Amino acid sequence: MQPVEVKKDIYWVGAVDWDIRDFHGYTTYQGSTYNSYLVKDQKIALFDGVKKGFELDLIHRVHNLGIKPGDIDYLVVNHLEPDHSGGLPELIERLKPEKVLCSPMGEKAMKAHYHYQGWPVEVVKSGDTLNLGSRTVHFLETRMLHWPDSMFSYLAEDKVLISSDAFGHHWATSERFDDQVDQNQLMQHCAKYYANILLLYSPLVQKLLAKVQEMGLQIDVICPDHGVIWRKDPMKIIQAYDRWSRQETVDKAVVAFGSMWHSTELMAKAVADGLIDQGMSVKLMNLADNHRSDVMTEVLDAKVLAIGSATLNNGMLPWVADFLQYMRGLKPTGRLAAAFGSYGWSGEAVKEITAKLEEMKLELVGEGLRWQYVPDHEALKLCRELGQKLGQAAKAG
Ligand code: FEO
Repeated sequence: MQPVEVKKDIYWVGAVDWDIRDFHGYTTYQGSTYNSYLVKDQKIALFDGVKKGFELDLIHRVHNLGIKPGDIDYLVVNHLEPDHSGGLPELIERLKPEKVLCSPMGEKAMKAHYHYQGWPVEVVKSGDTLNLGSRTVHFLETRMLHWPDSMFSYLAEDKVLISSDAFGHHWATSERFDDQVDQNQLMQHCAKYYANILLLYSPLVQKLLAKVQEMGLQIDVICPDHGVIWRKDPMKIIQAYDRWSRQETVDKAVVAFGSMWHSTELMAKAVADGLIDQGMSVKLMNLADNHRSDVMTEVLDAKVLAIGSATLNNGMLPWVADFLQYMRGLKPTGRLAAAFGSYGWSGEAVKEITAKLEEMKLELVGEGLRWQYVPDHEALKLCRELGQKLGQAAKAG
């Protein structure tokens, strides 16, 4: 329960959740952290709380800095989602901050979540500052990144950006900094976070990155509310956000499918073969075995999406519909797509998938490929040709 110094008089005092495996429908196979930061100056400020159940982790770390109840002047709440605010009632009760600061939308969300009375809440807006003595906190509202209340806190003298969910990732580690962990794993966790939490807000991410550049913010360290702190290379994650929010893709295809008796699976393999013929990297993902959030992570940089389903009860398989509904909400754009599937007698699945892909405004290649019952050599040749056509279109684009 020791605090970790980030910079002089700036400490990580959050909690590591080694056990969480599901974050509202997003798999967190390797846990998460709820980061909280304490700044000691003439005034003492605590930035962000923890999830309900982790309050004592934070309180012990704060205690180990020699800080007693009543010593904290400001509790800044950058974001009200319960993974950061669930512990607020107990923190406010036990730490007794003089003021609780949040954005205008944060105040609304705080009232709607906690129905409090008597909390010393004060609203701050973009451009407002908070003097701590030798340093000043600058607030920047980041509405819809990813909640209406979301806000950044920037410590100008230290060049430290406390970025709320942005630039974070779900990964429980004993290490606290980017230079202490495996870089490939780190970026994979960040990609998963972006694909599943932020992709739909990409136009706003672009605007925010432009605004940060326009403001000329010097950033030495990024302190996100989840995962490790970016002290060695904060530009690495900023550049990744720039790429992801532009929805940049590579020569990669996701072939995601649902099958009943392996016929659609055979078709999926043949579509994948055709894509490989064209030099595409392929992820073949059975939607019965791969979680939607893992498939979405692969979609993040894939140029091609080929979606297959058998027909069940006059429609696509429910687990294919689940994934399409999820992906639709996250708004991937600028991809090529196609539908395929085996059927017995009615065969509506391909039509339904095609309609969903059209609704998502993805560029369809081909008419949608259906085959009755088990695909034969001719059917698999057609599937392979569909894959080749997708690969050629991707290369041409
Ligand atoms: Fe980590 Fe939007 O909460």
